[in-house]
Amino acid sequence: MENIKVGIVGLGRLGKVHAKNLAENVQGCQLIAACSFAQEELDYAVTELGVQETYKNYEEMVKSPTIDAVFIVSPSGFHCEQIQLAMKHGKHVFSEKPIGLDLAEIQETERVIQSRPDQIFMLGFMRRYDDSYRYAKRLVDSGELGELTLIRCYSIDPSSGMESFVKFAGASDSGGIFMDMSIHDIDLVRWFTKKEVSKVWAIGKNAAYPELDKVGELETGAAMMQLENQAMAILVAGRNCHHGYHVETELIGTKGMLRVAAAPEKNLVTIMDETGVVRACSQDFPERFREAFVNEAKEFIACIKEKRQPQVSAYDGLQSTKVALACRKSFETSELIEIDN
Ligand code: NAI
Repeated sequence: MENIKVGIVGLGRLGKVHAKNLAENVQGCQLIAACSFAQEELDYAVTELGVQETYKNYEEMVKSPTIDAVFIVSPSGFHCEQIQLAMKHGKHVFSEKPIGLDLAEIQETERVIQSRPDQIFMLGFMRRYDDSYRYAKRLVDSGELGELTLIRCYSIDPSSGMESFVKFAGASDSGGIFMDMSIHDIDLVRWFTKKEVSKVWAIGKNAAYPELDKVGELETGAAMMQLENQAMAILVAGRNCHHGYHVETELIGTKGMLRVAAAPEKNLVTIMDETGVVRACSQDFPERFREAFVNEAKEFIACIKEKRQPQVSAYDGLQSTKVALACRKSFETSELIEIDN
């Protein structure tokens, strides 16, 4: 079968990672087109990645007959509209998380996706494609931990990324910390337990970075949740981690517990020097999830070739966004929020 020809929209912090993977690290596809508002990003795509078609207007890109599939890595508020447009022009679609910021728009997008079952749709919950998370999932599914009773998740961005985050959040609505960050943990909770979240209570605080107030963002948010089977989840999301990019997950079951990345270690090297025993840490999401981003892109291309839908669906996008929106509402109202599933 011929290479799948892919167009990408968005060449920012994550868009460049996906573009490089599609151009260099994923077999069976060719990154042929790119769309961005920024000319220098398009120039980069042409000179560094060999992209042949560039666009400033997304609809023109999805109308191009040379493109089989699109990778959507634009700001979150554009995802629904761009998914729908690509689907309606007959393209396969990979979209970054969250699937959208507005529930009605997400539901409409899910309807459009479902009405075109022959086109592949995949959502970018890349943690499901990380080797450690996949290992943990196999243990849970084989009953090794017994019944899951509590999941604790930390997802804290590095403080070194504060400047680029404030730029990102100032340029367009991220949806807030629960929608932008906790959404990965919400997906993990649903994936590991195979249950839906029924109640949430969320709180938050800005302390070190008052510039976050100006862009309506939280430095640290915490949420406590109850699932439909009374299992519990505790989520902490943040933007101010001084040792690097801290993504940690703990699963507590009736027969045992496990932790994924209890410390966010960069690799297996331990340094012993005058400061003590030192393990370097992952510094950002492209580093920690390098393989997962490649794996999910490979899976998207494989699904197109093998004519099967991937495991992360529009429904997962809808359900996780419902929970993230409930967290935001709880934070804003100081109320316990019940979720209508
Ligand atoms: P960014 O702000 O760094 O880059 C946005 C890009 O989109 C820029 O190239 C900009 O020119 C382009 N753009 C903006 N509006 C556009 C439009 N209407 N049409 C075409 N191009 C447009 O954003 P970043 O951090 O790369 O995030 C992009 C998406 O990826 C977000 O939805 C975010 O939630 C998601 N993301 C996911 C991560 C993960 O862990 N899976 C990590 C970081 C981001």
